[in-house]
Amino acid sequence: MIEIVDMAKAHAKQVAEIEKNTFAEPWSEAQIEEICGKFGVVARVAVDCDGSVAGYYSYNSVCGDGYINNVAVREDLRGKGIGKALMRDMIYTASLYGLQGLTLEVRSSNARARGLYETFGFEVGGIRKKFYQNTEDAIIYWLNVGGNDNFKRQ
Ligand SMILES: CC(C)(COP(=O)(O)OP(=O)(O)OC[C@H]1O[C@@H](n2cnc3c(N)ncnc32)[C@H](O)[C@@H]1OP(=O)(O)O)[C@@H](O)C(=O)NCCC(=O)NCCS
Repeated sequence: MIEIVDMAKAHAKQVAEIEKNTFAEPWSEAQIEEICGKFGVVARVAVDCDGSVAGYYSYNSVCGDGYINNVAVREDLRGKGIGKALMRDMIYTASLYGLQGLTLEVRSSNARARGLYETFGFEVGGIRKKFYQNTEDAIIYWLNVGGNDNFKRQ
């Protein structure tokens, strides 16, 4: 069983490990520590009963919208519904904070993440051509949180 709680400095080492194993340009442990409890940043972790970090997300609140920095699940725990639990929590916190929308960029080839976002009603808002290493397009997704009932349908 997992629980989703606010990210704290005590989680930073494990989050940094997942970042390193997941992203081409991972955030360091120090960068992760920096966002914990920072004004305007929502950062949450999925932890199991012994405190191990199974996944996490973070977004910055800017002018009423949430800009998603990262969403990731530990490699050996993917495909078990933790990503969905994190997205449900993200949409819930965004609506609690009265945000209008959530937005992010994702590699066009990242079918798993795109499937996850689309499950929650995110829509393609645009494409940034050759955004990643000047080769791969970034797909911009957008979810209208204010007045959106996708969360309730999950
Ligand atoms: C994307 C990610 C967070 C999903 O987490 P997860 O725990 O594996 O996802 P879940 O088990 O909750 O699956 C949620 C949905 O993802 C999609 N999905 C999962 N595996 C998929 C696959 N192999 N292909 C396509 N879609 C897939 C489906 O829509 C699935 O919903 P469904 O089970 O109702 O069909 C995880 O795979 C991950 O950490 N990926 C690397 C980091 C990343 O790409 N982050 C996003 C960019 S910032």
